[in-house]
Amino acid sequence: MIDISQMTLEQLESTIESCALCPLHSGRNHAVPGEGPARADIMFIGEGPGFHEDRQGRPFVGAAGKFLEELLANISMTREQVYIANVIKCRAPGNRDPQPEELTACKPYLDRQIEIIQPKVIVTLGRFSMYRYFPGQSISKIHGQPRQAGNVLVVPMFHPAAALHQPKWRPLIEADFQKLPQLVAKMEQSGPIEPEPKAQQLSLF
Ligand code: URA
Repeated sequence: MIDISQMTLEQLESTIESCALCPLHSGRNHAVPGEGPARADIMFIGEGPGFHEDRQGRPFVGAAGKFLEELLANISMTREQVYIANVIKCRAPGNRDPQPEELTACKPYLDRQIEIIQPKVIVTLGRFSMYRYFPGQSISKIHGQPRQAGNVLVVPMFHPAAALHQPKWRPLIEADFQKLPQLVAKMEQSGPIEPEPKAQQLSLF
């Protein structure tokens, strides 16, 4: 694998666009590196591109994306203000769950994205990004409960697509979103703490 450790966000995104590290590359129309400013207070990490994302090369542009934009609007934010990424960058056939080797192949990209963007708050959307920080946990038990991981506060939330399909989860994700402005403010006040321990980073998946 080429050295991505010094890449800018732009260089990283174009490397991801031509990535062939796992078999998913052969079925894609477009890889979906992620989207947003190179420095953002909030970073969202979803699962992987779906049909529309694969067509457009952009994250969260289908129904789940519309809902994500609505949730952001509820806290007076737009998608242009946040960085939106996924744990896997290419669509899995039929939107099946990502396989361990696909997560492993994509992990360095997400690690580098986080390193560049330096978000104050990371919101994990759904199980697979939650497992990065909360292995083996259940989303219905821990959603909305922030945990500090080095310099960043990680907040697990339901995936917007899941909340669209399960109406009882909709008010829960809406309530969890309402916490975000305060959590960002809290991180602004507390300032940098310490780097995320390397051992923890390495054992995430
Ligand atoms: N669902 C995801 O997890 N990511 C996307 O980019 C779109 C839908």
